[in-house]
Amino acid sequence: MAEPTKKGLEGIVVAESKTSLVNGQDGKLVYQGYSIETLAENALFEEVAFLLWEGRLPNKAELENLRAAIATEAALPAEMLAQLKSYPKNADPMAMLRTAVSALAMYDADSEDQSVEANRRKAIRLTGQITTICAAWDRIRKGHEPLAPRKDLNLAQNFVYMLTGHEGKEPDATAVEAINVYLVLLAEHGMNASTFASRVTVATGSDMHSGVVSGIGTLKGPSHGGANAEAMHMFLEIGEPENVAEWFRKNIKEGDRRIMGIGHRIYKALDPRAAILEDKAKALAESSGNSKWFQIAKQLADTARADAYFIERKLYPNVDYYSAIVLYTIDLDVDMFTPLFAMARVVGWTAHIIEQFANNRLIRPDLNYVGPMGLPWVPVDQR
Ligand code: ACO
Repeated sequence: MAEPTKKGLEGIVVAESKTSLVNGQDGKLVYQGYSIETLAENALFEEVAFLLWEGRLPNKAELENLRAAIATEAALPAEMLAQLKSYPKNADPMAMLRTAVSALAMYDADSEDQSVEANRRKAIRLTGQITTICAAWDRIRKGHEPLAPRKDLNLAQNFVYMLTGHEGKEPDATAVEAINVYLVLLAEHGMNASTFASRVTVATGSDMHSGVVSGIGTLKGPSHGGANAEAMHMFLEIGEPENVAEWFRKNIKEGDRRIMGIGHRIYKALDPRAAILEDKAKALAESSGNSKWFQIAKQLADTARADAYFIERKLYPNVDYYSAIVLYTIDLDVDMFTPLFAMARVVGWTAHIIEQFANNRLIRPDLNYVGPMGLPWVPVDQR
């Protein structure tokens, strides 16, 4: 007798984890005991990385060691830079990142060493290198020379420096602050699709780079990390706050489109990250003197939240909704939004990979076969 099919694996618990708690009914998120609100207000991204990898907050010296290690490891092998320059300039940045991280494994002396120590070293290295790849790619495709990471900066500062900087110019403090909060909020999120993909990959005994490549490929989709860019395209398509009502009627009520950045498999209340990012987006919009995109997003969210369809299905803005406004306001190119998500989530993926290795068993679900049976073999020239 066939088991009922659990489409999308909804409600299936596949692991025990100390990394994070996602409480979808109450809209709460906790990393290793600390609420996301506390972390967003206080933590440097490197503190969150230490927390997720080590299970506790670092002291001052440990934090400085990790910051310096990530900044040092962020330098790319010369071969990697040459490779980046050889990629087609119009490549999708997530396709570029997936390819580049896969290639990095071949220049990593720890690549095939699956010990805890080697995996911790690789987690630090990948976190730094992915930041550099993202920034370097944006410069290369625009015809500029990439900048090397600076050893004196933290990750958010280094990203902004490598993306927009030049010698003598310090990274913009507003952008750094926004990127740091974004990275903290996006670092980890339970058994999301890309983390699951990473865990499935390494549960076969494969290596950390392969797990992270699986994570990047899975994050790329518009139902997951790709939604931040899709949300921004949607806001740009709406164009003006006064177009929101008409756009909603035509595309959502009478059409079959989804509002990108709304809805979540787990959250049936407001995603707590969306609440923090809404405030951030509002403040940035006001201080930048351009509130139009925030107003469009806010009006569309309010329209949806007042609509019976969205109320019945408990559909609220998720993390990708207002993060689109935050990232657009600090002038990040829209197709770099999802790579930035990967820059944050690499910490969660690697924490989960280390956790998976510590108590591993092959992850291998089953399916119900619904195809034909007992067909006679017909030789090829008689078909
Ligand atoms: N707009 C309109 N309707 C929606 C939306 C939306 N954004 N999201 C879900 N629904 C509806 C579905 O049509 C469905 O209705 P039905 O029951 O009448 O068929 C119901 O809500 C449930 O939707 P499912 O797709 O079954 O929910 P699931 O848990 O599988 O999907 C998902 C969750 C993919 C996030 C979905 O809400 C969606 O497509 N959202 C837009 C994309 C998005 O923002 N993704 C980012 C998620 S957060 C992250 O990954 C970082």
